[in-house]
Amino acid sequence: MQFTVEPSALKGGSITVPGDKSISHRALMLGAVAEGRTDVSGFLPGQDCLATIGALRAMGIQIEHSSDTEVSIHGSGLHGLSDPDAALDLGNSGTAMRLFAGLLCGQSFSTLLSGDESLNARPMGRVIEPLTLMGAQIEDNDGKPPLRIIGGRQLGGLVYRLPVASAQVKSAILLAGLYASGEIAVFEAAVTRDHTERMLRSMGVALSQGESQIMMNGGQTLKGTDIRVPVDLSSAAFIVLAATLAEGIEVTITGVGVNPTRTGVLDILREMGADISLDNVRLYGEEPVADLNVRPAVLQGIMVYPAMVSLAIDEFPLLFVAAACARGKTTFSGIAELRVKESDRIATMAEGLRALSVSVDETEDGAVIHGGKLYGGTVNSHGDHRVAMSFAIAGTVAEWAVIIEDTDTVETSFPGFVDCLQSMGVNIRISGQPA
Ligand code: S3P
Repeated sequence: MQFTVEPSALKGGSITVPGDKSISHRALMLGAVAEGRTDVSGFLPGQDCLATIGALRAMGIQIEHSSDTEVSIHGSGLHGLSDPDAALDLGNSGTAMRLFAGLLCGQSFSTLLSGDESLNARPMGRVIEPLTLMGAQIEDNDGKPPLRIIGGRQLGGLVYRLPVASAQVKSAILLAGLYASGEIAVFEAAVTRDHTERMLRSMGVALSQGESQIMMNGGQTLKGTDIRVPVDLSSAAFIVLAATLAEGIEVTITGVGVNPTRTGVLDILREMGADISLDNVRLYGEEPVADLNVRPAVLQGIMVYPAMVSLAIDEFPLLFVAAACARGKTTFSGIAELRVKESDRIATMAEGLRALSVSVDETEDGAVIHGGKLYGGTVNSHGDHRVAMSFAIAGTVAEWAVIIEDTDTVETSFPGFVDCLQSMGVNIRISGQPA
């Protein structure tokens, strides 16, 4: 499938954006091993989360949908999962793969976790190492999926300093910790999203959290609860940039997750000059949310320092587009992690921006982007949802049409993306068949 985006005059107003992917995955997994029922509203019905539902159902968990965004999980307790008949196919989802590795390594049965071509090329050594130190046994394919998680292992405690800033790795350790006999202490390389910690607490798990350390006693049980999922800031960010680059409009997105471990994108855009305000800040359970109001602004190039990276880790493709539209140059450093996401995001963004005549100097762990005019052209997303959506936003302000190839994976995180942009007046159309 491909998108064609023509220069567009955007309309303001209230825009609806789907629920948070990270929180939706966690609600499913934690709900499955909790005692009793967990009712989730605002759930993200994207392909990644649907893969997690499929895997949990294959392990005997009853999950009902009363609508696309309302899901009830009948938890069967820490030891209620059952042996699946076949390999668990986790599609494109790194979060599902790494969190399931943690959740499943203390089970009595073995499982095989696999994914699509992109997921099967992503590094898993980062979860295998700490889980093995806890007593897990995991067979891999040269550090990559498929992963065979061997059952019947007794897990012990762990004191671990994460070598990479990764919420997925931290979460895998905490999920395995639910099955461990000792204490878990995790020290982070940099603060990363803490949705697992917040949700565990909301389900009755005692856990202490410092600036970048988490301690938890193993073997604690979880109680099912009601979870209201905020709008995904990582998806809302596309709308925020579209509105920033538009003229004479005001856009509101309500109920957006503004957990401080996620808001780096707003800080960076504001430092570039964006006009974004957070109104009506409140809590959905343990998660802070706000209504975002965005007005157009002229962006300036800045230096984006490594200290900001883990707080905006998924938004760099979009920030590259912001930089391309800004006055002057923007320097990104300390973003080597982007090379092992759904695609090598430094390389795919540099290639695509150059196709639109933007000057980009790529470095080992970053890029320098020289802002100015974007011309039209054809870019390939390399199957990366966030790259595809970032170039769709670029298309709203390019001189001519931008054609984005290989866009099927947009459904993994932002179902309804094209309809959402069309509702804002973006001239975008889809052609070709889903792969
Ligand atoms: C996620 C953590 C991040 C992020 C991903 C979702 C999560 O990955 O990029 O989209 O839900 O824990 P890393 O842990 O690899 O940084």
